[in-house]
Amino acid sequence: MTHQNETMKFKGTKNYVATQDLMLSVNAAITLKRPLLIKGEPGTGKTMLAEEVADALNMPLLQWHIKSTTKAQQGLYEYDAVSRLRDSQLADVDGGERVKNIHNYIVKGVLWQAFSAQEQVVLLIDEIDKADIEFPNDLLREIDRMEFYVYETRELIQARHRPLVFITSNNEKELPDAFLRRCFFHYIKFPDAQTMKSIVDVHFPGLKQELLTAAMKTFYDVRNLPGLKKKPSTSELLDWLKLLLAEDIPLSALQTQEDKVAVPPLVGALLKNEQDVTLFEKLVFMQRHNR
Ligand SMILES: Nc1ncnc2c1ncn2[C@@H]1O[C@H](COP(=O)(O)OP(=O)(O)O)[C@@H](O)[C@H]1O
Ligand SMILES: [Mg+2]
Repeated sequence: MTHQNETMKFKGTKNYVATQDLMLSVNAAITLKRPLLIKGEPGTGKTMLAEEVADALNMPLLQWHIKSTTKAQQGLYEYDAVSRLRDSQLADVDGGERVKNIHNYIVKGVLWQAFSAQEQVVLLIDEIDKADIEFPNDLLREIDRMEFYVYETRELIQARHRPLVFITSNNEKELPDAFLRRCFFHYIKFPDAQTMKSIVDVHFPGLKQELLTAAMKTFYDVRNLPGLKKKPSTSELLDWLKLLLAEDIPLSALQTQEDKVAVPPLVGALLKNEQDVTLFEKLVFMQRHNR
């Protein structure tokens, strides 16, 4: 393993707004050579962080998107016994040569690809909390030692270059202590208004200030509504702004008039279930009658 990147530092990118503490965490994880575990609400830029770090440091990105059915072993390799059996029955395609070599039936997983890459890569293990609780523990050794053993071929696979590992979690499940101990942890706080302005600016440069101010006010009003099931996040604000612009919604539709508070146009971009929409409508109704 090399130390070629001892001095590399992540400073954000032109597409991604990274707060000071986030940059510090990324660089801490690089220095410690530990995975960076990133938690935060959905839509706060966890996945995008790994993509942008790879981009900024000019490293290839390997992504492993975890589902509820994903097993740790799939990240290492899978032995395709079914194909081998089928090939052995079809027999002499190439004189049965292919069947004899077990290597032909070992399918490399994302971790293996990351370990065998010619250069250091960024490895994203996305949404680790989707898998069952054994999953993180099953990967402890591989992530710690950066090696694993292939029993079928009796090979030890060792990383040529230790990948920069990013692990994201939406906090649907607690992660085991032994796993946490090996990570550097960062929680992406929901962006404050100033940071959010910078993020919007990245996506919609030159957006009219009045429109932005009005849209942000509505957005934070919706977000701060007590009892909401699902708070809208950054990506929802961006979607909503995109629609407001595409539909040419006038500023006046967002601003509260003296005598009427209205449900904002295209609210379906922000609120994703009927209970939340009803809650919001009730609030609007009450405000109107309290004036
Ligand atoms: N800090 C940020 N800078 C720029 N865009 C951001 C930022 N955070 C979120 N976004 C936007 O929100 C979208 C959702 O981010 P994503 O990484 O998918 O969130 P998560 O993985 O946390 O659910 C991104 O595609 C991007 O457009
Ligand atoms: Mg994500």
